[in-house]
Amino acid sequence: MKATAKAHTNIALIKYWGKRDESLILPMNNSLSLTLDAFYTETTVTFNRELEEDKFYLDNEIILGDQYTKVSKFLDLIRNYADSPLFAEVHSTNAVPTAAGFASSASGFAALAAAATRALDLNLDNQTLSRLTRQGSGSACRSIYGGFVEWEKGVEDDGSDSYAVPITPQDHWDVRVAAVVLSSDMKKVSSRVGMKRTVETSPFYSGWVDSIPSDLMQIKTAIQNRDFEKMGKIAEANCQKMHATTLGANPPFTYWHDTTLTVMQTVQALREKGILAYFTIDAGPNVKVLYQPENEEIVHQTLRKIPGVSNVILSRSGQGVTYQ
Ligand code: ADP
Ligand code: DP6
Ligand code: CO
Repeated sequence: MKATAKAHTNIALIKYWGKRDESLILPMNNSLSLTLDAFYTETTVTFNRELEEDKFYLDNEIILGDQYTKVSKFLDLIRNYADSPLFAEVHSTNAVPTAAGFASSASGFAALAAAATRALDLNLDNQTLSRLTRQGSGSACRSIYGGFVEWEKGVEDDGSDSYAVPITPQDHWDVRVAAVVLSSDMKKVSSRVGMKRTVETSPFYSGWVDSIPSDLMQIKTAIQNRDFEKMGKIAEANCQKMHATTLGANPPFTYWHDTTLTVMQTVQALREKGILAYFTIDAGPNVKVLYQPENEEIVHQTLRKIPGVSNVILSRSGQGVTYQ
C-alpha cells in the first residue's frame, strides 16, 4: 500500500507543443528528449483505508487548489485502472524548481505514476506506465526512460498507441546539458495553457506541425551517428520555431526574458569561437545549453558570467524511473 519512486526531468530536443485531445493528453506531434540526471522528483504514495480524500504534500507543504486537483484526478485514473476505492497520501520533493520551465511536471507525474502503481501492486511494464503517466502531464511519459527518448503520438483516439520509447541504450552518448537559471519564479502561462492558446489561435501553428517529421528524422540520424553539430543545430532551430508560434497567438505571449536572449547570443558567440554548444528552451525563460564533455569548463565559465544569470547547473544524461 506504500511505495517510493524517483524520476528525472527531461529536456525536449524536438518539442511537444499542442494537443489533439486535451483530456487524454494526446499530442499533435511526436517529440524527442534527453533525460537529465541533475533534476528529479521523489514521491512516496501511501493508500490508506482511513482517508476520506487524497492528500498531497509538495516539499513538505500541504497543496490545495489546481496542483492538488491535478494529482487527485491522476490518482482517480490509477484507482480506476486498479479497481481500488482507496484514497492516498502523497509526499513529493522536487529537486527541480516547480513550474518554472524546468519540466517539474515531467519528473513529478512520472514519479507519482510509478509510486502509485507500485503501491497498489500493479506491476506495470514500462510501456503501460508511460501511457498512464502521459495522462498526468504529456512530457512526463518520456521520463519513464533514461537517455534519448521519443514520444510516439499514436493515431488511435483512445490513446492506446501514444507512449514513449527509448531510442538508444542509456550509455549511448555522453551529451551534457548546462541549465542556465535566470528565474525560478512560477511562469505566468503554464505549458498547458500556452500550448492550447497556440493551437487555437496562432496562424504559425500549422507550419510548426508540418515541420516536425523532417526535424525528427534528421535528429534521430544525428543521435545514432553521435553527430553533435547536426543534433545541436536541429534542436536549436526546433526550439526557436516552437517559441515563434507563441508570438503569433492571440493574445500573443513569450516565455523569454531579456536575459534569455543574451544567453542565446552568448551560445552563438561560443560557436563563432569554435566551441560547439547549442541552446534549447522549454516553456519558461531559462535556457538549457547542450555541449560536449571536453568543453565543460569553458561553457560553464562563460555562462556563469552573463549578467542576470543566477546559477548554472551542469547535468549528464539521466536514468529512467527507479524504486526505493
Ligand atoms: P514545468 O516547466 O515545471 O513542467 P508546468 O506548467 O508544465 O511547468 O507544470 C507545473 C505543474 O506540474 C505544477 O504546477 C504542478 O501542478 C505539477 N507538478 C510539479 N511538480 C510536481 C510533483 N512533484 N508532483 C505532482 N505534480 C507536480
Ligand atoms: C515546452 O508536458 O508540461 O516543455 O501535457 O499540458 O502537462 P502538459 O504540458 P507539459 O508540456 C511541455 C512543453 C515543453 C516541450 C516538451 O517538453 O516537449
Ligand atoms: Co511541464
